[in-house]
Amino acid sequence: MTDLKAAATATMAKAYSPYSKFKVGAAILTEAGNIYTGCNVENISYGLTLCAERNAITAAIAAEGPEMKLTEVVITNHNEAGESGACSPCGACRQFLMEFSSPETIVRYPGETGEVTTKAMDLLPDSFNF
Ligand code: THU
Repeated sequence: MTDLKAAATATMAKAYSPYSKFKVGAAILTEAGNIYTGCNVENISYGLTLCAERNAITAAIAAEGPEMKLTEVVITNHNEAGESGACSPCGACRQFLMEFSSPETIVRYPGETGEVTTKAMDLLPDSFNF
């Protein structure tokens, strides 16, 4: 298990997800060489829920500042039974990842047949820009 996967898994255990019972953890390695993590934090007003990926990124920005760039992102999940299943980053998180990615940024997440490794930019072709 990579350090990033272990970090994502440890943070996933802290998720606040009483409504979906679905825990997500994200760990990111920044170009500066630091690791930051996030978990999903739900809310009784469901739409206010924050995803693990975006929480990890905001922690990185708070620590390193606005120049922070992502080298690698690893995402883990558990359902109510504690089982991991296929789960790719949601659309909102893909757009959020784009903001801090380079063409080399790698994203790893559980796919249908094992871990998927892809470039962040391949997760959201033609992403919003102006
Ligand atoms: N979730 C994430 O944390 N990341 C994603 O990319 C997709 C969904 C969370 C939000 C919610 O707490 C739970 O998973 C079920 O949707």
